[in-house]
Amino acid sequence: MTTDLKGKVAIITGASRGIGRAIANTVASLGINLAIAARQEGPLKEAADEIRQKHKVEVLPVTCDVTKLEDLENLVKKTKEKFGKIDILINNAGVSSQYPFEKQPIEDFEKLAHTNYLGYVRLIRLVINDLIKNKSGAIINMVSGSTLCDPVPRNFIVYSSLKVGLRAFSKGLFWEMRDYGIKVTSILPGVTDTDLTGKLQDITVDVSRLMTTEAIENAVKFALTVPPNVCPLEIAVINQQTPWTKPVIPYAQKHPER
Ligand SMILES: NC(=O)c1ccc[n+]([C@@H]2O[C@H](COP(=O)([O-])OP(=O)(O)OC[C@H]3O[C@@H](n4cnc5c(N)ncnc54)[C@H](OP(=O)(O)O)[C@@H]3O)[C@@H](O)[C@H]2O)c1
Repeated sequence: MTTDLKGKVAIITGASRGIGRAIANTVASLGINLAIAARQEGPLKEAADEIRQKHKVEVLPVTCDVTKLEDLENLVKKTKEKFGKIDILINNAGVSSQYPFEKQPIEDFEKLAHTNYLGYVRLIRLVINDLIKNKSGAIINMVSGSTLCDPVPRNFIVYSSLKVGLRAFSKGLFWEMRDYGIKVTSILPGVTDTDLTGKLQDITVDVSRLMTTEAIENAVKFALTVPPNVCPLEIAVINQQTPWTKPVIPYAQKHPER
């Protein structure tokens, strides 16, 4: 990957709102053309119009449910038909679920696993041979800062343990792919102010505990613009008051020097 990114092509999933939409704008600001994906057509088209207008790049919206293999195949096919190549994949689409384990609906497990883990691995598998052929490319996976906690945060154990798996997969993938000049980066965001966190109990009561998407956008930009022989394996961007630290460091701790 060279640092001149103008004219490159990126697929970004979950780009119709939240972190994905913010990232899509940032990536487009580097002159990169986009294929953006999400399930709901309306917000996706709206995002595509916004990005085209602001950044003067080409944007292809493709409705896609990342839990469905045929949708992922269609996303890759449509991207190649439009742009002739794929240089960058940003796997970001995700769902959350907050339950004490004994109350969590059983259907949740499949949805979480298919969206937050299998969807990522499958889409990478569908593009990886193109990147290998080009001997360059970048894959960015939206993991989660919750993977920094051991044990994973209470009431999020299925979500977080799948993200732990994704993080392990991403690191392993880097070692397999580095000889091909392919970068693989995991981003570990803290709790960010999006629709995904809007419904979470306890966590969003105090908004000072939430980050905006800005630090995540900067992390993506950093990952894409480091020199060609460098790969940031993992970038954690955590609000200093992120609630997962609560079991370890009390939220209201008094620092001895303050
Ligand atoms: N927000 C946080 O605090 C936080 C912290 C750490 C990690 N993350 C991770 O960051 C990523 C983005 O989260 P967010 O907060 O931006 O969420 P969000 O605001 O809820 O946005 C989620 C995006 O993913 C899409 N999506 C959801 N399920 C999909 C599916 N099956 N197929 C295709 N697209 C799908 C949504 O569009 P449709 O509904 O139209 O499909 C939407 O564009 C997730 O992977 C999440 O786990 C978030």
